[in-house]
Amino acid sequence: MADIRIENLRKQFGSFVAVQDSSFTIHDGEFLALLGPSGCGKTTTLRMIAGLELPTSGKIYLDGEDVTFNRASARDIAFVFQLFALYPHMNVRKNIGFPLLSQGMPRAEIRQRVEETARLLQIDHILNRSVSGLAGGDRQRVALGRAIVRRPKCFLMDEPLGTLDAEFREFMVHELRELHNRIHATTVYVTHDQHEAMAMADKIAVMNHGVIEQFGTPQEIYSKPATMYVADFIGSPPMNFMRFTSGLKTGARSVSLHGVEVNVPEVQQDLAEAELALGVRPEHIRFSDTAPLRGAVYGSEYLGTNQVVAVDTPSGVIKARVPANRNFRIGETVGLEFNPTKLALFDCRSGRAIASALYSEERHG
Ligand SMILES: Nc1ncnc2c1ncn2[C@@H]1O[C@H](COP(=O)(O)OP(=O)(O)OP(=O)(O)O)[C@@H](O)[C@H]1O
Ligand SMILES: [Mg+2]
Repeated sequence: MADIRIENLRKQFGSFVAVQDSSFTIHDGEFLALLGPSGCGKTTTLRMIAGLELPTSGKIYLDGEDVTFNRASARDIAFVFQLFALYPHMNVRKNIGFPLLSQGMPRAEIRQRVEETARLLQIDHILNRSVSGLAGGDRQRVALGRAIVRRPKCFLMDEPLGTLDAEFREFMVHELRELHNRIHATTVYVTHDQHEAMAMADKIAVMNHGVIEQFGTPQEIYSKPATMYVADFIGSPPMNFMRFTSGLKTGARSVSLHGVEVNVPEVQQDLAEAELALGVRPEHIRFSDTAPLRGAVYGSEYLGTNQVVAVDTPSGVIKARVPANRNFRIGETVGLEFNPTKLALFDCRSGRAIASALYSEERHG
């Protein structure tokens, strides 16, 4: 087990910058998700940590030791790609033990390690079965067994659930987190799926065009997005943004959205000239007949326990997650009220949150 620390890590392919000055620390036993859309540099970051790709500049430390120029084989890291690639002609025992056999470990020790691993994964009763006849869940456990039997310091996983169907994916998300809770190996898990990241990770690094936009716990990333990009990427539907040109002064209690005054907590700083966006998540909106911000219902999506209703307002279409016990007619006028303690404010030019503008630090908790 180990800490992983990366410092100002950068990777260029020719003049193209795939990863730009990334810095973060994953503490011993933590599960980090590298989350972002296709092409943002997740795999490249992971391959540099694994030693499969040399950084253009920057440092990688494993357990305090600078491993930036160490070969992959000298890093004691298990890299798991697709979890499904098993050797079909070998039984479960041989599949799990294979990495130890190729390391030249004595057979008695391999036997002991394989049995221990199988017990951990609750597949000790199928050790002598052929893998070709196994159900999906057991196959996945065998594949996991092969990764953990080496007892590496860290696991690096690149979209390991990539090709699975939705139901089985959900099962494996749970399974992987359970396994992590038992063995506590430092893990870096690459995914483009926010639900996987939110459900499994202790920390999430949200990436965009080679840059880490935010590094934090799932709760921090969701409730205090550092940028508009993060606020938009996380959450389904994502955060709503209402743009306005500021004239905001310290002490103001409302903002003017296209002529409609909307209450906010007391503004803590002058934001005179800036182009701003007020952000609110769909679940922090409720319908109120007396709210000054009004719009026409544009569509609704029934989700069982609640519904997402899209409302066309002067500030654009706003989506609200509201109880499912009422039907809305298309075109019906509704008033929108925001939970003022959950509002966020962003500078549109930089895309960054101005966290201190609406909340003193202890109130923004
Ligand atoms: N060997 C390479 N040579 C040139 N460009 C590369 C190379 N490897 C990756 N890239 C580019 O770097 C960028 C980041 O690639 P990377 O594979 O890290 O993205 P990713 O976040 O893992 O995306 P995906 O979700 O599609 O797997 C992409 O634009 C990719 O085309
Ligand atoms: Mg990738």
